[in-house]
Amino acid sequence: MLQVDHVNAYYGKLQVLHDVSLTIQDGERVGIFGHNGAGKTTLLKCLVGDLAQVEGQIHYQNQAIVAGQVHLNVRHGIGFVPQGHNVFRELSVEQNLRIAGLMHDPAYAQTVCEIFPILQERKLQLAGSLSGGQQQMLALGMSIMTRPRLLLLDEPTTGLAPIIVRDVLTSIRDINQKEGSTVLIVEQNVQATLKQVDRAIVLKSGRVIFDGASKQLLEEKSLWHLF
Ligand SMILES: Nc1ncnc2c1ncn2[C@@H]1O[C@H](COP(=O)(O)OP(=O)(O)O)[C@@H](O)[C@H]1O
Ligand SMILES: [Mg+2]
Repeated sequence: MLQVDHVNAYYGKLQVLHDVSLTIQDGERVGIFGHNGAGKTTLLKCLVGDLAQVEGQIHYQNQAIVAGQVHLNVRHGIGFVPQGHNVFRELSVEQNLRIAGLMHDPAYAQTVCEIFPILQERKLQLAGSLSGGQQQMLALGMSIMTRPRLLLLDEPTTGLAPIIVRDVLTSIRDINQKEGSTVLIVEQNVQATLKQVDRAIVLKSGRVIFDGASKQLLEEKSLWHLF
């Protein structure tokens, strides 16, 4: 279980998160939505301890997430895929996967390729020559090489064609179902994401203004202008 209690986050004097509290159960798929600058990325950073100026408490599996200590926090099984295609462009698909899994089990690349068959097909291709969608699949594949129990994804479909967006979101659902990983996904493609998550959280100016079932958010048309 991930537990966030009364979190405030700051960049210098600028307060970006205001009294954010939420609980995520193991195995859940949750979408986080909100306007540009609402604090979505900041929230993900706090969850992995990638921001030093944080007040309040964050616990994952009853262990405290220590602000500013990402290297310790990830050992609790948290994987973070930041925005952008974070791959080693000059290395092959297979090399990327194996490097990501060095601290774990490089042979797990085989399982990752079963989740993303395109990575199997392009195993020997240089990552930099993959399409945007394929690079995103590779970045996701690399993150699951670390066997995360909690996967934090920051806008994994930004910049991708609609049909590819669906593929990426479906594979994220597969990771959740096949690996049992809890998934927390920040997305601008709200409609497509709502089909793949059970629960939605909406941030407005650093505050949680909605936390409920995806279906319920689809019905709350008054909130749609926020994203
Ligand atoms: N490194 C930073 N330094 C100062 N302000 C920042 C920094 N990163 C983000 N911010 C500010 O924090 C607010 C929330 O940003 P962010 O969490 O990136 O929002 P979102 O991901 O929802 O678009 C914005 O006002 C943004 O300008
Ligand atoms: Mg962001």
